[in-house]
Amino acid sequence: MRPYITLLALPLISSTAIHVQNSHGHAHNFPRHIQGTWYHRDDHHVNALFKRVGATDGVTYAAIGSDAWVKAYPAGPPESPDPNAMPSEWLAALNDAVARKAIPAIPVATSHPDTGIPTYPAGFDPNGPQVCSATYGCRIDGDVWDAPNGHVALSFDDGPLPPTDGLLEFLDTQNGQTVTHFMIGSNIIEQPEQFQKAFNRGDDIAVHTWTHPYMTTKSNEQVVAELGWTIELIHNSTGGRVPRFWRPPYGDSDVRTSAIAREVFGLTTVIWNQDTADWSLDASPPGTSLHAINASMNTWLTGSKTPGLIILEHELSDDSVGAFKAAYPVMQAHGWTLASLATLLGNGSVYQNAANDGSAVRLVSDILDAKTAGVPVSSASASAGATASAGGSVAAGAGATASGANLELKDEETQHSAIQLQQSITGYAPYYF
Ligand SMILES: *[C@@H]1O[C@H](CO)[C@@H](O)[C@H](O)[C@H]1NC(C)=O
Ligand SMILES: *[C@@H]1O[C@H](CO)[C@@H](O)[C@H](O)[C@H]1NC(C)=O
Ligand SMILES: *[C@@H]1O[C@H](CO)[C@@H](O)[C@H](O)[C@H]1NC(C)=O
Repeated sequence: MRPYITLLALPLISSTAIHVQNSHGHAHNFPRHIQGTWYHRDDHHVNALFKRVGATDGVTYAAIGSDAWVKAYPAGPPESPDPNAMPSEWLAALNDAVARKAIPAIPVATSHPDTGIPTYPAGFDPNGPQVCSATYGCRIDGDVWDAPNGHVALSFDDGPLPPTDGLLEFLDTQNGQTVTHFMIGSNIIEQPEQFQKAFNRGDDIAVHTWTHPYMTTKSNEQVVAELGWTIELIHNSTGGRVPRFWRPPYGDSDVRTSAIAREVFGLTTVIWNQDTADWSLDASPPGTSLHAINASMNTWLTGSKTPGLIILEHELSDDSVGAFKAAYPVMQAHGWTLASLATLLGNGSVYQNAANDGSAVRLVSDILDAKTAGVPVSSASASAGATASAGGSVAAGAGATASGANLELKDEETQHSAIQLQQSITGYAPYYF
């Protein structure tokens, strides 16, 4: 199967042609004070894995878009980053989590040869608590599917890309509305300009992996590399912010991948509860239409406000951005509270070491200083993610009206049989028409 990401690859500009100079590429001068919002226990791996050293200690981060910046990271798809070439600290953190039995030892899923959809060996029920695959609609405790009542949690997947420009221009006309971007690491490398525009306007940056694979089909080490490189790139390109949320591509996560994200990197897994299928607007033939998205949006936005909405949307084409622009006034007209997903769900801490885009990051040296001085710095409220018992009580698909799986669209016939196939595998339709 052609990886989904090649659908996005066509308009990409050669990364070597871009040399964006920006203050974020050079020395940072964030105020050195303790944030009250660090939400992981101080001995969490992420504190050690993503140290940000102060702006005055001689470290200069590579300029965003520079050759040095590009070359420090793995290549993009189709291959996942080589797990043998990742920092040994990440592997050590994984091994520690495995040794603590914090990572369920279930089989790596196999991609269906026609659709790519992950399947498990006999005896491993994807809907049961042992596997609990989000592709099959199974919800893991601590993973996020719903927004708080009355809220629409705004987020966009797959950026940064050229259509990001139109999205940000629209948001700039809407009273400073911010959103969350679940970004693909290799797309940040390709589109540093859009990345910086999104970050600099105060939008929240979250993780959508390095190459956009079905994560449950990847080994533990590959999962770590996909997440780790994306975090490292965001960290080193935002003045040291460590993202708090990730969304698995195709919504494909299970107890194993969710646990790796949480235990190694402190990430909370976010899925969605409504799917526009906007990613397929510009497929050939289109999988959905603006008309169909309009109808779905109207249904959702005039319907129950319990729970709140997490609508899967993409900054993938001008059409997918246009579908959001059309729906935005309808969201407002029906009394929803609109907020960037990470701001809404993060309860005041969008990043793991900073409250939000405008606030200072919390430096490791500050944590150590505070510890030495006997000041309690650990936030009492550990994240839901950090305390969740993966595979605990799960609601198998209840209320999950949309699946995370996308399909490659070759022609209409293949498309329809692929949908039937996915329905027969996962039990519900992959997207709306
Ligand atoms: C990211 O920044 C850290 C310093 O905080 C540095 O050690 C590391 O090499 C950088 N990573 C890359 C890929 O440039
Ligand atoms: C759907 O289209 C109609 C007609 O153009 C428009 O008035 C309405 O705002 C749209 N609704 C959404 C949710 O896009
Ligand atoms: C959100 O933060 C407030 C204040 O820090 C805290 O009292 C509350 O428990 C937090 N809620 C969640 C869901 O973490």
